[in-house]
Amino acid sequence: MTPMNRQVRLAARPTGLPKPEDWEHTTEPVPDPGEGEVLVRMELLSLDPAMRGWMNEGRSYVPPVQLGEVMRAEGIGRVVRSNHPNVAEGQPVRAVSGVQEYVTASGDRVEPVDESVAPLTSQLGAIGTAGLTAYFGLLDVGAAKEDDTVVVSGAAGAVGSVAGQIARIKGCRVVGIAGGEEKCRWLTDDLGFDVAVDYRAGALQGALRDATPDRIDVFFDNVGGEILEAGLGRLGRGARVVICGAISQYNAEGGIEDVHGPRNYLSLLVNRARMEGFVVFDFRRRYAEAARELAGWLHSGALVAREHVVDGTVDDFPDVLLKLFRGENTGKLLLRLAAS
Ligand SMILES: NC(=O)c1ccc[n+]([C@@H]2O[C@H](COP(=O)([O-])OP(=O)(O)OC[C@H]3O[C@@H](n4cnc5c(N)ncnc54)[C@H](OP(=O)(O)O)[C@@H]3O)[C@@H](O)[C@H]2O)c1
Repeated sequence: MTPMNRQVRLAARPTGLPKPEDWEHTTEPVPDPGEGEVLVRMELLSLDPAMRGWMNEGRSYVPPVQLGEVMRAEGIGRVVRSNHPNVAEGQPVRAVSGVQEYVTASGDRVEPVDESVAPLTSQLGAIGTAGLTAYFGLLDVGAAKEDDTVVVSGAAGAVGSVAGQIARIKGCRVVGIAGGEEKCRWLTDDLGFDVAVDYRAGALQGALRDATPDRIDVFFDNVGGEILEAGLGRLGRGARVVICGAISQYNAEGGIEDVHGPRNYLSLLVNRARMEGFVVFDFRRRYAEAARELAGWLHSGALVAREHVVDGTVDDFPDVLLKLFRGENTGKLLLRLAAS
């Protein structure tokens, strides 16, 4: 009997937080791989705040997911059939598979993953795209160096937790901003951040002032909105503000027009500071070098990798995605697909 492929497709462009009716769940026969192609059964799907942006129409750094199309997602799966000479059956591979159980792809477009390097979950997290984002954002865009004061927002998330740890490894003083006491305790007790500020406790500006007596050299921002504003208010001379993301703005009801920008951007002028956005894909040619360094830190114990793994099926994707916007994950959020 032909196995069936469960899929989650974009049914409507959401306003605000995605709702169940913005998705369509479909089942199709698993396609046969053609010449040079492989059939992969997905085991882990990465959930990323950027997915919310891919659901919107308009110009971005990747084309929007089209209505009716399988939702875009990166993941790791195992090759179950191969018509490609260099990809063996049973080989784990990284692929932009979409939210579905099976994907057929050219064998040249899947990336073999070495299971001996680290658990597959970490290879989608601290030493995967999230770790690479932290690495290039902090070291290249932010030019963080020893003795800098580095502030990271979204600090208990996939990217933020690695950015803060790299800053600590490089000899910086590290301040994390995260939601809730438990996340803050994890940052200081387990990850070695110098200070953690709980933005949900209120009085963020005062808490950040107390946490940064020498002001901020690098502000690595994952959140935007009021948190970006608070960070800009504490910049030191020559500071670098790294715009990695702005999760607090991704579900703005009025779309991009409704995004809350910083009122105090003149802090950049006063402090001779710069603010720069980046997309990790632009560093693709250096991924291997950075991944090796991240894996080295992981093996030496300098870098702690944490994944928040939800066991389920592709049908759980819409619900699990919302965890990112509710702050329900610590570390990298992944959906592990049950074997069918
Ligand atoms: N530039 C790039 O190339 C690139 C690549 C990958 C990711 N990113 C960006 O990096 C950021 C982090 O991504 P990630 O994958 O590591 O996600 P993540 O941080 O693991 O998960 C999202 C976290 O954001 C926080 N959050 C959600 N809504 C918030 C709000 N309204 N205000 C403040 N905090 C909020 C929550 O933590 P709390 O409990 O602390 O609120 C939540 O756990 C995102 O902005 C993403 O778009 C950029």
